[in-house]
Amino acid sequence: MGKLDGKVAIVTGGGRGLGRAYARRLAALGAKVAVSDLNLKSYEEFEAERRDMTGDSTVAEIEAAGGQAMGFELDVADRAAVDAMVDKVAAAWGRVDILVANAGGGRGRPLDTKASTLDSGLLDLVMKMNLYGTVWCCNAVAPHMKRQGYGKIVTVSSIAGTAPSTDGGYAHYGAAKAAIAHYTRYLAQDLGPSGITVNCIAPGTIATGRIMQTVIPGSARANTDPAARVALRRVGTVEDCARVVEFLTTDLSDYVTGTVIPIDGGLLR
Ligand SMILES: NC(=O)c1ccc[n+]([C@@H]2O[C@H](COP(=O)([O-])OP(=O)(O)OC[C@H]3O[C@@H](n4cnc5c(N)ncnc54)[C@H](O)[C@@H]3O)[C@@H](O)[C@H]2O)c1
Repeated sequence: MGKLDGKVAIVTGGGRGLGRAYARRLAALGAKVAVSDLNLKSYEEFEAERRDMTGDSTVAEIEAAGGQAMGFELDVADRAAVDAMVDKVAAAWGRVDILVANAGGGRGRPLDTKASTLDSGLLDLVMKMNLYGTVWCCNAVAPHMKRQGYGKIVTVSSIAGTAPSTDGGYAHYGAAKAAIAHYTRYLAQDLGPSGITVNCIAPGTIATGRIMQTVIPGSARANTDPAARVALRRVGTVEDCARVVEFLTTDLSDYVTGTVIPIDGGLLR
């Protein structure tokens, strides 16, 4: 018996990186998993992600391990597309128990996205892919979870949403992630009476292909050890985050809601 047998989960941004790890973990615990991404083969963009794959998509990996999964290609900033995906999942599998609203990330380099000189196009894009995408996904699953009187929602902020960078770079991303953390607190109050928990994770520096290949090299601290300011003296792994997602999507966290949990190894920014 898996802890999530009979449960239906949706993971956004599941084509690579952290989202892929969440989807695989929920499936390994017994959930049927809808994996959504702008591009279900987004892993092709980064060598480290490509090397890690054991199938040609996250869906294929889950199926090869004996799990059940469906893939959806869509932009979470497109509200109608999000609604349509959630309706299809509910129609196919009869319920929606878990949402991990993981899709998002930054665009541009930290050095080029200082708070005082933000490009309007980048600000708009990053707000939409992070904050709006999260809100649309949460709004789409809420009616299903309310009907069931049960649901577990995990949103994704970042250490950047808690503390600013010392040079003010990546301000658009930090602002979007701070907004997600606070939106989560409101959503927890709204949905708590319906038996739905809503929590947020705030990862620190996690070694995904994108972070190691683009974000760290484009930051003011490009030439310093990214683990130096981490209490545990190592950068995080996707499994470090997946373990916390397991906690927040199983009965271990049934009396936990409205929280923002840092997963940063004790990082000081
Ligand atoms: N890796 C880290 O160190 C770190 C730290 C803090 C927070 N985070 C957050 O965790 C999440 C995953 O990070 P990651 O490092 O795995 O990123 P990533 O870029 O490797 O993966 C993100 C995935 O989301 C997809 N995606 C992006 N925008 C989308 C959209 N509008 N609609 C649908 N799919 C979309 C991408 O195609 C990609 O497959 C992001 O929200 C990120 O901001 C990551």
